[in-house]
Amino acid sequence: MGTAMTDALETEEQPSRHLSRDRAPAARAAPVARAAYAVGQAARVGVYLGQYVLSARLTTPVAPRQPIEGETPGLQPILADLRGLLQRDWANVAAGVYRMPHDLLDEPFDALRRAGRYFRDLRRVERRRHGRGHDEVLKRGEAERLRQAYPRYYLQNFHYQSDGWLSADSAAIYDHQVEVLFSGGADAMRRQALVPLAEVMRGRRAAETRMVDIASGTGRFLTFVKDNYPRLPVAALDLSPDYLAQAARNLRRWRGVETVQAAAEATGLPDGSYDVASCIFLFHELPPRVRPQVAREIARILKPGGRLLFVDSIQKGDHPPYDALIDYFPVAFHEPYYGTYATTDLEALFAEAGLRTLSVERAFFSRLMVLEKKGPPGGTRNCGSESCV
Ligand SMILES: C[S@@+](CC[C@H](N)C(=O)[O-])C[C@H]1O[C@@H](n2cnc3c(N)ncnc32)[C@H](O)[C@@H]1O
Repeated sequence: MGTAMTDALETEEQPSRHLSRDRAPAARAAPVARAAYAVGQAARVGVYLGQYVLSARLTTPVAPRQPIEGETPGLQPILADLRGLLQRDWANVAAGVYRMPHDLLDEPFDALRRAGRYFRDLRRVERRRHGRGHDEVLKRGEAERLRQAYPRYYLQNFHYQSDGWLSADSAAIYDHQVEVLFSGGADAMRRQALVPLAEVMRGRRAAETRMVDIASGTGRFLTFVKDNYPRLPVAALDLSPDYLAQAARNLRRWRGVETVQAAAEATGLPDGSYDVASCIFLFHELPPRVRPQVAREIARILKPGGRLLFVDSIQKGDHPPYDALIDYFPVAFHEPYYGTYATTDLEALFAEAGLRTLSVERAFFSRLMVLEKKGPPGGTRNCGSESCV
């Protein structure tokens, strides 16, 4: 991989390196904010880690067909890594790079209700996991309609998820499932993309900037974007009408939110119409032939000089202690394309689409890449008194 990967955990308690050195922290974090963050995150990690451990007790591991090379790390180093991610998240908040999320502290009743749904569904997931039930979506009695409406690769029970991507129940439970999988670290991983977004936004008028989130899911990342840039018009694009409906609910407190039901490889959006695109946890779910199509489509809809903020799973070799986990993940969860994703040269793939890699870094189990569409940024910047990036 051409661009050196930085491991942000080497700089614990430091804001991410995307923070410009000349930028004074917007506000020194008050001790009360630090305490609120610490309490909120401790509660989240306690809740989700507890549910992760309980889930492991209630389920039976799937044996890999072939032996997996190397040792999987124990829980302790993973938790130390998670702590590093949260320290980095807090450092970014304290330095004023981005705000604390409005919903860090969960509503206790909501959290209980979601946990109940999650555990009721876990039994169904477990049945599918051991019965290789990854194409139930196509057995719902409306297979023909679904085949007409969606690409074939999309019609699977990814993660052995009930209803795949295609029900309101699946959309309602998804964020919770992901947080359990990452013991409460999923949102903090997504938030690392706010750091390069802050660089993009420096000197711009939010209302005159255009952003699209490709494969937005329930819009979780866009809620963090809107926490920080409420006037920034955003488009949430996804193939699932149910996930988009959930995204619209999650984003209802803000104006300037558009939902677009389309495939990432054929969005139907106009050429050169966005200053910034984000794409989070999509590429590992795409067949190898579709990944370059999506990269080209993102390059097409970005303005020259526009940025792509890419977050997805780390790949083999990004953090060698996790290599065996990367090999085991698609065994435990239905992830038919994860194996090829984990060894794809993403920089080369994006370069072929006209997107130049500016930086690559790891944050816990995620890989954050910042890419730029080639060509002069003519007319795309709207710099005020601050210097353009
Ligand atoms: C793993 S989820 C990630 C969602 C979200 N970005 C997040 O941070 O959680 C994958 C999402 O990609 C969507 N998706 C998968 N393939 C797609 C495609 N070809 N075009 C558009 N959306 C797609 C799914 O509907 C789902 O909402």
